[in-house]
Amino acid sequence: MEKPDLSGAYALTGPESVRQLYADWAETYDEDFAQGMDYRLPAEVAAAFLRAGPPAGPILDVGAGTGLLAAALRGLGHAGPIDGIDLSQEMLAQARRKGVYRDLTIADVTRPLPLGGYAGITSSGTFTHGHVGPEALEPMLGALISGAVVALSINQQVWDRLGFGPAFATLGNRIRDLDQHEVAIYGQAARDRDPSHAGDTALIVTFRKA
Ligand SMILES: C[S@@+](CC[C@H](N)C(=O)[O-])C[C@H]1O[C@@H](n2cnc3c(N)ncnc32)[C@H](O)[C@@H]1O
Repeated sequence: MEKPDLSGAYALTGPESVRQLYADWAETYDEDFAQGMDYRLPAEVAAAFLRAGPPAGPILDVGAGTGLLAAALRGLGHAGPIDGIDLSQEMLAQARRKGVYRDLTIADVTRPLPLGGYAGITSSGTFTHGHVGPEALEPMLGALISGAVVALSINQQVWDRLGFGPAFATLGNRIRDLDQHEVAIYGQAARDRDPSHAGDTALIVTFRKA
């Protein structure tokens, strides 16, 4: 087995390959990838989510991974309950150790979710190559109360390729306050570490369920 890395993650082809790659990556993900690449998306999504003014209530973190986004929310002072879902039990085991989530559940966000009643959804790094596309928007909307806020990172290169623009347009007046801005996914450290991905960008998309 080759060492798991970003190129391997971008080449994933379905739930089984996601589970295999992240089982091997979970233990080293925070130090090797997130610190090594100066990975900025969890902090960017957390800040955008709080800026959008979510109503009080529990939040669902989609593709929670090792829990970096919930840790970023806590760092910004968010005290309410945060649940997480992910396909990878090994990634969720790392998240559990951070002590920042209320509940963690193995679930596939492209299928109807076994959870609901959330005042917000956050997600960083999950809407990208080889991972999740617009098919997750419907299951996510189904897990939200009216007025809930959603903040997602969507890799810039998959926005057009996977048809996010038309998918958001199809949601019509079921969502409001749709907004997006582009951010760098990685900081300075990525330039030496992985020059081919160092300049990658994502759209931070926020909206409210009507
Ligand atoms: C790049 S990691 C991001 C983790 C974390 N949010 C972060 O920013 O560090 C992507 C995560 O999405 C999860 N994932 C991929 N496809 C998924 C799906 N269909 N449903 C739920 N989680 C999924 C993977 O298991 C992995 O933990």
